[in-house]
Amino acid sequence: MTRVLRVHPRAPEAEAIDEAAAIIRRGGLVAFPTETVYGLGANALDPAAVARIFHAKGRPADDPVIVHLLAATDLPRVARHVPPVAERLARAHWPGPLTLLLPKSNQVPEAVTAGLGTLAVRVPRHPVALALLRASGVPIAAPSANQFGHTSPTTAEHVLHDLGGRIDLVLDGGPTPLGVESTVLDVTRTPPVILRPGGLTREAIETMIGEVILRDDSRPERASGPEGPQPSPGMLARHYAPRAALTLVTGAREPALEQMASIVGSQLRSGLRVGLLAVDEDLARLASSLPVHADPNLVVRSMGPIDDPAGAAQRLFASLRDLEAAGVEAIVAHELPARGLGLAVNDRLRRAAERIVVAENG
Ligand code: TXA
Ligand code: MG
Repeated sequence: MTRVLRVHPRAPEAEAIDEAAAIIRRGGLVAFPTETVYGLGANALDPAAVARIFHAKGRPADDPVIVHLLAATDLPRVARHVPPVAERLARAHWPGPLTLLLPKSNQVPEAVTAGLGTLAVRVPRHPVALALLRASGVPIAAPSANQFGHTSPTTAEHVLHDLGGRIDLVLDGGPTPLGVESTVLDVTRTPPVILRPGGLTREAIETMIGEVILRDDSRPERASGPEGPQPSPGMLARHYAPRAALTLVTGAREPALEQMASIVGSQLRSGLRVGLLAVDEDLARLASSLPVHADPNLVVRSMGPIDDPAGAAQRLFASLRDLEAAGVEAIVAHELPARGLGLAVNDRLRRAAERIVVAENG
């Protein structure tokens, strides 16, 4: 049985938080909202509790999880050493959607880091997450609270759908404000490497510490050779995936729109129920060639206006789950411009995609 306790997202009730903290302290599992997505939390210093996370999610043991702290002053509990660049970033962006890779201390069980010498750590910004960290008094290990490989949860309903019956408690603080996971930055390398684009933009990081490298492992078969940076374990190419075959269309806008119309058109003609995910401006254009309002087999979800990638990020995972719930067998989506949160949205779309179509002029 999984219990659900509603909490106020900005001023969480003490009784609910105390109950959740007691579960964490005795080795149980609590899903809770962060500013990015819901996390599935356990006492990071208790190997048996951490093992329960992996079991509940069906997550392979070689995929390390993020440790959440109440404040940067707790870093010595989990990190052996904090490079100056990490200190600067932490001071500026914690609490917030930035996860730093640091050398791990011996206090942290091997299960958390999958045997790696580095630890991924962040201070979340959500009042419910912070209240839970304060009340439990321990660092909390928490991956996203979804079944392994599925779309990350941005509501308590998403968590229950994936993990109901497998965890002790969900703190329901409503939808998460950012909608995509934290940016994972490896600061043990110079220059630092973005292992996963996320809620803190590359621009915001570079403004502070200068140029960083963006690792492109979203399609490992095309990524760098043996000398290049290795993907971190668990950063599988296909991940964050809805249970419908997603075709992602990239490339110049005009040919991309033509491709989308042609792919969706032929899928509809072959009798498939199709989901279409694109920004308002794309949908307006596609309305001239596709039955966007007329065919019950075409389910349309907007990512909002093209100049609002933050809004698109906020809606992304919910839209994918929505399309899944609407019973679509195929989804066709269009990449956003690669700026700001568009980078994180495109990364998740690429990982969710079964195939990527690069549209070209002519
Ligand atoms: O926003 C977030 O980061 C959310 C909330 C709950 O905090 N958490 C989250 O955790 O997305 P998870 O486990 O779903 O994703 C963590 C990512 C994984 O891709 C994992 O492989 C990588 O971070 N990671 C964790 N520890 C690592 C390590 N020591 N070295 C390299 N990559 C690591
Ligand atoms: Mg995850």
